[in-house]
Amino acid sequence: MYNIVLIPGDGIGTEITESVTAILDAVGIDINWIKCKAGESAQNELGNPLPEETLEAIKEHRIVLKGPLTTPVGAGFRSINVALRQKFELFSNIRPAKSLPNIDSPFREVDIVLFRENTQGLYFGKEHWVDENEEHAESIAVVTRDASERIITAAFEYAKKHNRKKVSLIHKANILKLTTGLFLKIGKEIAPKYPEIEFEDLIVDNMAMQMVLNPQQFDVIVTTNLFGDILSDLASGLVGGLGVTGAANIGDNAAMFEAVHGSAPDIAGQNKANPTALLFSALMMLEYLEEFRMAERIRSAVYTVLQDHKEECTQDIGGKGTTKSYTDAICKFLRD
Ligand code: NAI
Ligand code: MG
Repeated sequence: MYNIVLIPGDGIGTEITESVTAILDAVGIDINWIKCKAGESAQNELGNPLPEETLEAIKEHRIVLKGPLTTPVGAGFRSINVALRQKFELFSNIRPAKSLPNIDSPFREVDIVLFRENTQGLYFGKEHWVDENEEHAESIAVVTRDASERIITAAFEYAKKHNRKKVSLIHKANILKLTTGLFLKIGKEIAPKYPEIEFEDLIVDNMAMQMVLNPQQFDVIVTTNLFGDILSDLASGLVGGLGVTGAANIGDNAAMFEAVHGSAPDIAGQNKANPTALLFSALMMLEYLEEFRMAERIRSAVYTVLQDHKEECTQDIGGKGTTKSYTDAICKFLRD
């Protein structure tokens, strides 16, 4: 039996975590879920967006399946997602985007795995006002050798283990010469240790265009935090949208699995949310636990439902169903 911390989170979080736990239950894997609160719902209920009990549970069990957490825009509390990634040093944010069967998209045979540095960069949130009137703001980007080495090495190790051909490092070293320049320099140092893997670097604006023009040219991508945030949503768009891309946040001592998407307030509570993204995150969790056969059974159930029971799928991917009908179709296939 596995003890896993479950944070349903905000917005569509409750609906999609219920769906995913039902599917894991249907495949017969024995998980003891330790349910914890975080985010806006925890702030409203307990006056703290990151309660001490949640931190204690993560410290003890070290594996988390997490729904999305709302972060107030502009003012308000800082991102709890960022806080969790920094606190538990979950330095690798791994975001695969792979074309799926029977999903209408102009892009075919996309198979990208993006490694996003998860603890630093401009995303660090180190900001301050320069003047008293709050009309002049500054933000600090942080890049260190250690953090860059570990994420770039993680990307190359992944490429090697999974027989991938190429690692593309994305930067803006023409303008941000020190921060992303350092990241690029370290990439160039590490690449020769993996002679079997092709290495290239691209400037982020060109990368955005290349990903839309010819996404099939990319294999493993490694980049700094903010660029990884933006390019992973772009990659999701290539394969059917934010409803279908999972992600893992992995450190040396803990791992947290969550979708790429956010709390989707526009569709929350309407039985419309696509649970595939969180489900694929949960499959990354099963693989982390070396439950490869279980993960494969669920993946193939999803592929079958997409292929043969599209009407049961959620509307974001062209189905006519709901979160519930889609979940039921996957569970039925797994039980039969
Ligand atoms: P979002 O990812 O929540 O939604 C963007 C668009 O994608 C919306 O139209 C939404 O309906 C759709 N969408 C997202 N997930 C979907 C799903 N599973 N099925 C079907 N459609 C889906 O991004 P947005 O609106 O920019 O952010 C909303 C909130 O989420 C913000 O407070 C933001 O800070 C937070 N957020 C949290 C993340 C996390 O917990 N890791 C990641 C990204 C955003
Ligand atoms: Mg994002």
